[in-house]
Amino acid sequence: MLNITGIDRIGMAVPELDPQLDVLEGLFGFQREQAWEDSADGTRRALLRIPGDSGIRWEVAAPLSDASALDAFIEGPRGPGLQSITIQVADLDAAAEHVRAAGAEPASEGDSVVVGPEVGGRGFTFRFVEASGAASAAASGPTGAPSLGITRVDHICHAYSSRDELAAWFGRLLGMREIWRTPDGEHEDFADLVLEWPGAPMLWEVIQPEGDESFIERFIEKRGPSVHHIAFEVADFDRATAACEHHGVPTFDEHDDETDGIRWRDAFIHPRHTGGVLTQFYWEAQAATWIRSDKVRPASFQAAR
Ligand SMILES: [Fe+2]
Repeated sequence: MLNITGIDRIGMAVPELDPQLDVLEGLFGFQREQAWEDSADGTRRALLRIPGDSGIRWEVAAPLSDASALDAFIEGPRGPGLQSITIQVADLDAAAEHVRAAGAEPASEGDSVVVGPEVGGRGFTFRFVEASGAASAAASGPTGAPSLGITRVDHICHAYSSRDELAAWFGRLLGMREIWRTPDGEHEDFADLVLEWPGAPMLWEVIQPEGDESFIERFIEKRGPSVHHIAFEVADFDRATAACEHHGVPTFDEHDDETDGIRWRDAFIHPRHTGGVLTQFYWEAQAATWIRSDKVRPASFQAAR
């Protein structure tokens, strides 16, 4: 039984730590909690707090030299960018057992159990740790230079050849269940679905290519089946775009629309400006509107348990 008690951190790997901290603290408005050098694995690392009350933190790592194992990730097809997500569980041994039962062979690394693409992890690395009980308290809002005004991580999106196949895998591995999906034919070049994740204060999206000229197909060919983007909610959309301008960061694919008469807005920032991860931010007038703007309930859906 996998008893998830929270998300500990989202991890990214980049070639240089300091410029990435400028992005995360400046544009993103994250607050640095600590920075350290890990000579054992040849990295420099920093841990930052994501604004809001989810308790999810953000860890960024950079190699000290090209002998670091991290360098292989950064130079490989999936890097640089998001590398792993660390999940808090009540019992690590039980989690390892659960992972084996789901059909993957977890690796042990220190006080964690790891399921990565090397051992059946379907393109992204999940790390399980026992809850420390030290989840961070609510963070204060961004200070200093204008930032996006992020209030929470809404979801991570995983590109994969079959949305239903990956959703089934995450159902077995993490207990995720589908809550929204785009109807077949809704978009000519992709189809996606959204998974709810018991014990986790964020959602997981799976996106698959459709048609002959899909940007998702090109993404998978280049980077493999891995994280396609991360989406954050912001408190004020105009303030977020003004912060992008302030930092000289362009946005694209901006929408200003409504669903059932409720307004929402969203836009993207290219990975070249964020350390390697396509970043989406959105604002909505009412909670849980934007996520369903192009989606319907799946046939399997039942109201909240
Ligand atoms: Fe998304």
